[in-house]
Amino acid sequence: MLFGRKKQPAAAVRKIPVHLGIIMDGNGRWAKKRGLPRQAGHVTGAQVFRKITKYCEKCGVRYLTVYAFSTENWRRPQDEVEAIMNLLRQYLKESLADFQQENIVVRFIGSRDELAGDILQLIQEAEASTAHKTGMTLNIALNYGGQQEITAAARCLAQNVAAGELDPAAIDEKLLEQQLYTGDQPPVDLILRPSGEYRLSNFLIWQSAYAEFVFMDDILWPDFKEGDLDRAFEEFARRDRRFGGV
Ligand code: FPP
Repeated sequence: MLFGRKKQPAAAVRKIPVHLGIIMDGNGRWAKKRGLPRQAGHVTGAQVFRKITKYCEKCGVRYLTVYAFSTENWRRPQDEVEAIMNLLRQYLKESLADFQQENIVVRFIGSRDELAGDILQLIQEAEASTAHKTGMTLNIALNYGGQQEITAAARCLAQNVAAGELDPAAIDEKLLEQQLYTGDQPPVDLILRPSGEYRLSNFLIWQSAYAEFVFMDDILWPDFKEGDLDRAFEEFARRDRRFGGV
């Protein structure tokens, strides 16, 4: 369902999703429209990501998962992949001090196998230095794919069965869910995607089984502002969530 710029009544209920997922889409198109290289869109996109993360925490979001790099994004030109990895390096180096002041738990979800050694090191430092925080959990999906995540979870359960440690009859949704990167977190309430693409792109496919979707086709991620998040929350508040019931 699309979502436009409808004026809201002043007294609109402010209902904030506990777990918000954001597909930060449209960086390349934003740059192209300005005659800039795609990388320029990612640079601005990374700045917007930092601003919106802080705003989510301020609004009371408890879990924020952002799609930074998918398992399929390695297919992009080498210089674009390098540019995104460099932005991540820069973000992690600059944020290590910030993380001390902010009450955010930082976690990375996705496969770590293909990541460069220095990025792995920065990720471990960020996770270790924020693990004790009590505020919002920020999951950065990096080298992440929902299908790969579920496959890895199934493989792990199969290994337990093969080792004689698990009865196949004991495998249920709960047990599989616990093997996911987000196994200790609540399901996703709202998935937000700017840029006019109406798909999930292998993002949190298990966790979003009952998520609401807000596709904002009038904005690209580098233009995204706090007010756009407010618009999405207002739309979310209007949704009647029945979780399969009546
Ligand atoms: C999608 O837009 C965006 C990405 C694949 C990369 C997202 C990365 C960032 C926002 C910056 C780095 C992140 C961190 C955490 C520092 P697109 O390139 O597919 O845009 P297009 O659809 O217009 O081509």
